[in-house]
Amino acid sequence: MFPVLKIDDLQTHFFTRTGIAKAIDGVGFHIDKGEIVCVVGESGCGKSMTALSVLRLVPHPGRIVGGEIWLDGQNLMAFSEREMREVRGDRVSMIFQEPMVSLNPAFTIGNQLIEAVRVHRKASRAEAWERSVEMLRRVDLPSPEARMNAYPHELSGGMRQRVMIAEALLLDPVLLLADEPTTALDVTVQAQVLDVMVRAARESGTAVMMITHNLAVVSEIADRVVVMYAGRVVEQGTTEEIFTRPAHPYTQGLLRAIPTLSTAAEDDAPRQPLYEMGGLVPSLTDLPPGCAFCPRCSAAIDLCAAQKPPAFPLGETHAAACWLRRTEG
Ligand SMILES: Nc1ncnc2c1ncn2[C@@H]1O[C@H](COP(=O)(O)OP(=O)(O)OP(=O)(O)O)[C@@H](O)[C@H]1O
Ligand SMILES: [Mg+2]
Repeated sequence: MFPVLKIDDLQTHFFTRTGIAKAIDGVGFHIDKGEIVCVVGESGCGKSMTALSVLRLVPHPGRIVGGEIWLDGQNLMAFSEREMREVRGDRVSMIFQEPMVSLNPAFTIGNQLIEAVRVHRKASRAEAWERSVEMLRRVDLPSPEARMNAYPHELSGGMRQRVMIAEALLLDPVLLLADEPTTALDVTVQAQVLDVMVRAARESGTAVMMITHNLAVVSEIADRVVVMYAGRVVEQGTTEEIFTRPAHPYTQGLLRAIPTLSTAAEDDAPRQPLYEMGGLVPSLTDLPPGCAFCPRCSAAIDLCAAQKPPAFPLGETHAAACWLRRTEG
């Protein structure tokens, strides 16, 4: 059986006046049916561009210049623009950070959902209405029938994001790309909305690529984790492997930077200052010849500055692109 998504050696570059920014520089990972894979990494490391590359919607002056993207065993790079339009919003859907951008303020929720069903499926208005109400119910929107007649501005941010999730799952996509889907919401609402998204995706058997900065969320919802740094995958593994046996110094740094439950809960205990990783992500137009994390890495050896490490397997599902993890042989 094919994985739902397989990305192989993807290269997406931006051709800017100051040089070529290698936003994605050889990314590879896969997502199986029904799996939830979280992609993490600091700002600018290429998470959104990876998702947009899958939809072949990289904005100008960016371009996919190499690699392969397979959806259910079909090579998307060979698809015509017309075939890609059928893929988008139908077999693959995407949820963005800011729901107001994606919902049309001039139309009721019901009109937007029904339209989406009717554009992609030969369904009657009544069938489309029924399907839409069912999806709104699945994302726990209160009084879904009444909300069908509401306009986006009449809903709270959390409700709008639920509508976006309902819309994204409306056509039973095989893959949902969720790019920081809840960062615009306040923290308590974020947790509920994510919970709803994960539950709805699991119910429909939809595979999810979820982009987030929030490692606490990752530990709750992900089956597997992909850690990106400067346009490359530096480590990937099951959620357990990444959280209990992180192998790349960058992953270890990211994990040290999250507040632990104990520091959050024990209010009278002296607080540990939050660990912050020193240094900055290098400029993507001028990447060093070796490991891009090397200038920030306290464990670096000479080889790290000279040559890019390949992904060394550490187990069946676990790999890290770090010379310190080099397997002798
Ligand atoms: N319009 C653009 N012009 C030039 N370079 C761009 C443009 N958009 C993105 N890039 C490059 O692509 C890189 C990756 O961007 P991307 O949006 O994928 O980062 P990200 O990991 O999603 O970050 P964030 O967590 O902030 O959303 C950026 O660091 C930048 O170098
Ligand atoms: Mg982004």
